[in-house]
Amino acid sequence: MIYPIVAYGDPVLRKVAEDITDKDFDVKAFAQDMFETMYGAQGIGLAAPQIGKGIRMFIVDGTPIEDEGMEDFKKVFVNPTIIEEEGEEWGYEEGCLSIPDVRGEVFRPEKLRIHYFDENWQEHEEEFDGMKARIIQHEYDHIEGILFTDHLSNLKKRLLKKKLANISKGNVRAGYRMRFPLGK
Ligand code: NI
Repeated sequence: MIYPIVAYGDPVLRKVAEDITDKDFDVKAFAQDMFETMYGAQGIGLAAPQIGKGIRMFIVDGTPIEDEGMEDFKKVFVNPTIIEEEGEEWGYEEGCLSIPDVRGEVFRPEKLRIHYFDENWQEHEEEFDGMKARIIQHEYDHIEGILFTDHLSNLKKRLLKKKLANISKGNVRAGYRMRFPLGK
């Protein structure tokens, strides 16, 4: 099932999401819906709050990126915790399915260690770096109620203010179905 993607301005994107404690919740089926929704929007990552669910879960599929090591980077992260981040911060132009048509350079540490469960409730603790770490950091921010625009410079934030307000109202064109907090 394809969900509409929640747009900037919706309170669900600002909540710290909650751990999944209901073992009857069908994580696998929900992950499937998330992948379907993400592929429909040509994304490489999607967090549950972006489809209106305030739970700690996100998916990634970096395989469309032709970087080395990305060919098997398709994963489901359930109840994840970033244990540590390290390395030099590097900048990259990020975008987000909840904020169509906006990009901005975000600086993030190069490496991280994360504890999480997969869609089969198997426990993992792994290290990621480079682009993989970046995708995870961006999605992890979502379940902490943080958006990439929060990391931009004050100047850039000011310049984007009107555009972001317009996105909340639905005055934006995305190539996928969205749910706007203030309108249409
Ligand atoms: Ni995003």
